[in-house]
Amino acid sequence: MADYTTTETAPEVNPAALSLSELADHIERIHHAYLHAELPRLDQMVTKVARVHGDKEPRLHQVKDIFLALSAELATHLMKEEQILFPMIRQLETSDTVPSFHCGTIANPVRQMEFEHDEAGVVLAQLRQLTDEFTPPEWACNTYRALLDALLTFEQDMHQHIHKENNVLFPRGMALEQQKAG
Ligand SMILES: [Fe+2]
Ligand SMILES: [Fe+2]
Repeated sequence: MADYTTTETAPEVNPAALSLSELADHIERIHHAYLHAELPRLDQMVTKVARVHGDKEPRLHQVKDIFLALSAELATHLMKEEQILFPMIRQLETSDTVPSFHCGTIANPVRQMEFEHDEAGVVLAQLRQLTDEFTPPEWACNTYRALLDALLTFEQDMHQHIHKENNVLFPRGMALEQQKAG
């Protein structure tokens, strides 16, 4: 696991310059490690802030509900990538022919992951809207402010993470599979 804390930003990489295995490693080391560390902390913060300030700002209850649901979905999503799709991509890259995967072509898990990314994107947009673009009200305490900062970082990290998967790793993986099949 990377020593990646919320105060750092993800290092700049040119995803197109990496091999597919290197890119899968990079995504796990940076973005998955960030989520594994940050989701439990965000779950706690969002729950606490909704409990303490939900009377004054009722939208915090919605923020809590949709965040906790997304967080649970993401835990499963990460596991599917780490245990199924990324190993398939690494194996594809190192074999001369297309390995036989029991879920068929990698296009199947890719389609499912992209569907889940779209769903996460909808929730991220809702979180942005419900928090007035992550802007704290004047009266917000430090914990409330820290939550909105952390949610903004989460949104940005998720966008980078999804971009690297949807626009680089997955299309290159599917193209390689086609090429090796031909
Ligand atoms: Fe991922
Ligand atoms: Fe993903």
